[in-house]
Amino acid sequence: MITSEHTHVFPRLLDLAYPSIERGRGVRLYTTDGSEVLDACSGGAMVACLGHGDRRIVEAARDQARRISYVYNHHFTNEPQERLAKALIELAAPEMTRVRFVSGGSEANETAIRLIRQYHVDRGEERRWRIISPAQAYHGALFGALALTGRHSLQAPYGEYLPGHLHIPPATWRFDPSGEESLRELDRLLEAAGPDTIAAFVCEPVGAAALPGYSAPERFWEGVAERRDRHGFLICFDEVVTGMGRTGSWFASDQLPVKADIITGGKGLGAGYAQLAATLCAEHIYEALAAGSRNFEHGHTWDGAPLPCAVGLAVLDVLCEGGLIERVRERGPSLREELEEALADSELVREVRGRGFLLGVEFVDPRDGESFLPNELDAAALVDQKAFEHGLLVTSTHSTADGYCGDQTLLAPAFIATDDELGEMVARFAETVSEVEQAIKQALAGAAA
Ligand SMILES: Cc1ncc(COP(=O)(O)O)c(C=O)c1O
Repeated sequence: MITSEHTHVFPRLLDLAYPSIERGRGVRLYTTDGSEVLDACSGGAMVACLGHGDRRIVEAARDQARRISYVYNHHFTNEPQERLAKALIELAAPEMTRVRFVSGGSEANETAIRLIRQYHVDRGEERRWRIISPAQAYHGALFGALALTGRHSLQAPYGEYLPGHLHIPPATWRFDPSGEESLRELDRLLEAAGPDTIAAFVCEPVGAAALPGYSAPERFWEGVAERRDRHGFLICFDEVVTGMGRTGSWFASDQLPVKADIITGGKGLGAGYAQLAATLCAEHIYEALAAGSRNFEHGHTWDGAPLPCAVGLAVLDVLCEGGLIERVRERGPSLREELEEALADSELVREVRGRGFLLGVEFVDPRDGESFLPNELDAAALVDQKAFEHGLLVTSTHSTADGYCGDQTLLAPAFIATDDELGEMVARFAETVSEVEQAIKQALAGAAA
């Protein structure tokens, strides 16, 4: 364990002791002090969808690095980038026609914001700049992407740096099970801001870090599509987590009754073997720039470099050869059922939800089975800590001050996890929840006494 006093690294949480990982194989991680961790969250950030240590990808990266690892997109294109763009569109997103590769999800969303804006400016609609998005979301740490989430805890110290985008409440069972309330709020915001100032609606099709495994009701998506037709804004799906098969289809939005104008992807595209993300757009977006400024002046040093793109190609090969997206599609529903069954007796668990290998567990106060747990218990941290004691890696999220969500846990195993490994993850998680429940009940009883 490495603590902040014993490192030159600037850690994320200064009070946390970090285990140091030496290597990984499949869904298992091994620490430098010899313990083994079962990885139920693809490296912790829903990235390593093919598991750790896949030789085919390592070899593809080595071969590419030997030929050419890096050139700058401003001067050159390169074969892996060209092939990856073509393969992604043909295989995963036939309704899109262009791809810009970047290094991470935040960059992909920043690229989307710039593209959205440029689309409207090039078409002579300069008034359109504001974006509407659900409040309870995560779109990245860079200022443009950070402004898209409505979570005060993330934005608070940086308010001055963030433009005033607009947010609607999430259509969860708690607030709005039909989705109609969120649509009404969307209408209200459109009206108040002036529909001709709205550039886009940006949204995760299935929540991950902020609302694990949650997707709005069908009616909500249909309503957003109707409003796009009426008011002329764009729809951009942030599929940084959900893309590349995580929910059982190439993109999760394939399962929704609305088509995007722009999609961003990341995490699973490089699968943890390279920093790779992408912004994809439909032809009418490209056409607006082609007929307008003919310039998309936005880029980062590593965009579309040969090494990460070669890794992306190898990832696509492994996904296709192994029939891994089909596996996620077929195995996802029974995995969710197994998790539900294992947690059925828990008074702490209100809901198990999700699609494919992106599952969320929502916790509530066991005294009424409905309210959020008291903030000071920090159930999310307790779940992660207890899971770790059981040799299990999951990622939990704490309740938000605006009251849109309580403590939740995300499970996002690698697609290559065997049935036995998935069973072990479920069993260890159920033991974890049972211990957390005991601890929480004790704390609640102590507080009441
Ligand atoms: C939905 C979503 N979008 C964007 C991001 C940002 O990606 P990155 O951390 O690679 O910048 C994340 C990160 O977790 C995410 O969950």
